[in-house]
Amino acid sequence: MSSPYADQTPPPGCPAHRLYGPEAEADPMGLYEKLRAEHGAVAPVLVHGDLPAWLVLGHRENLDVARTPSRFSRDPRRWRDMQEGNVPADHPLTPMTAWQPVCHFVDGVEHDRLRGAITESLERFDRRGVRRYVKRFADQLIDAFVQSGRADLVAAFAEPLPMLVMTQLVGAPESYGPRLVEAARDMIRGTETALVSSEYVTVTLRELVARKREVPGRDFTTWLLEHPTALGDEEIVEHLRLVLIAAFETTANLIANTLRMVLTDSRFRANLSGGHMTLPDALEQVLWDEPPLMTVLGRWATGDTEIGGVRIEAGDMLLLGLGAGNLDPEIRPDATLPVHGNRSHLAFSSGPHECPGQDIGRAIADTGIDTLLTRLPDLELAVPEGELEWNSSLMSRHLVALPVRFTPRGSTVTGSTPVPVAVPRPRSEARPATAPSGPSSVPPAGGRPTGRTSLWTRLLGRS
Ligand code: HEM
Repeated sequence: MSSPYADQTPPPGCPAHRLYGPEAEADPMGLYEKLRAEHGAVAPVLVHGDLPAWLVLGHRENLDVARTPSRFSRDPRRWRDMQEGNVPADHPLTPMTAWQPVCHFVDGVEHDRLRGAITESLERFDRRGVRRYVKRFADQLIDAFVQSGRADLVAAFAEPLPMLVMTQLVGAPESYGPRLVEAARDMIRGTETALVSSEYVTVTLRELVARKREVPGRDFTTWLLEHPTALGDEEIVEHLRLVLIAAFETTANLIANTLRMVLTDSRFRANLSGGHMTLPDALEQVLWDEPPLMTVLGRWATGDTEIGGVRIEAGDMLLLGLGAGNLDPEIRPDATLPVHGNRSHLAFSSGPHECPGQDIGRAIADTGIDTLLTRLPDLELAVPEGELEWNSSLMSRHLVALPVRFTPRGSTVTGSTPVPVAVPRPRSEARPATAPSGPSSVPPAGGRPTGRTSLWTRLLGRS
């Protein structure tokens, strides 16, 4: 990811390492291990603009921070740098640190109130129903490339699948989907257009809530409106926004990382096809080794305290190091050993803010991958493994492309019009995103660092 802050220099003598910029993004795991060797379980780091923070590297310490909101709050208004005016309004992390009235940014009783509405509304989806949607969309996506014998599984499968499913689950009309998803993706990456995209998402969801008030459906938006907590419209909009953002990138990463593992690790694939490992076990292995969110921003110290032998001051920002904690040698002395379905990883965090959508995320990944591998059993990587590239940001790291080949098949299984996924173009041909017709006129995101054609432009074949 390129950043306007990348060329600044840390203060002389500063022991902290930048968690952003080319070096950190080239090899985040390598950086975490370097930090662990230098500092132990909690390390001083710098985020965009060289603002100081603490990266929690230990598994136990991550759990302590995540499970003790009385000491480590989720409320960014406690951030001392913010209070002291050191964080400009257009700071790239603003969408993740500007307080909003959502369960993600509050603690205690208020968190229970908001989170109750979210979890109870998510629980109204019957699991088989969600899996049916996933299977249907997965089949449609596969139909779009099955006859060609080749595909980029990131662009043609891992990215669109969670988005198609989630757009359906929130009850958004099809015309909203493309631009909404593109903006949500842009915003989570902390690009220069993140703020514009964030605004676009909010405006679009406001329109969705107004529609559902008039015409209720069997969807998450309607169930939030009906929930006895009686959330206000703005609260519902903000929670829809949160859910979409929380679901897209994470689930796409899980699918792409698992497929890469299947395609590149012969032992992994043999275990899977030989029945020694189930697909759910394989997902857990990936959630340990390459969690979809490498770090979570953030927690803020409620008072002067200590964690992992480090003195933390009131108002300091902490990042949960989910990727680093999963590889903590204290709990995984040999990280090459299989985890056999063990779920005590940090990929979904822990404590009161632990991901409430993990079952849906797992269902999308599991059913989607199962559908793909069943239909294309001879799937293989179309490029040498060493040519695979990643895009990184502060919080996540995702595969740019996963080119595969397989025996072309002549027929489709859905019998419906396939979702028109364009044949992937080389990255050098990528063009700026254009906005498909949508419900609002907010300008399209054109922010770096994606350097790729808009996901939905590709998805709709409008290139
Ligand atoms: C594999 C996919 C997913 C992963 C790895 C994942 C991971 C996470 C993580 C690490 C957090 C942060 C918790 C914290 O701050 O401590 C989170 C929060 C959240 N996730 Fe997920 N997530 C996934 C899918 C989903 C899906 C599909 C949904 C919705 C259906 C969802 C909804 C949420 C929400 C609403 C929050 C905020 C909860 C709160 O702060 O109380 N996530 N997720």
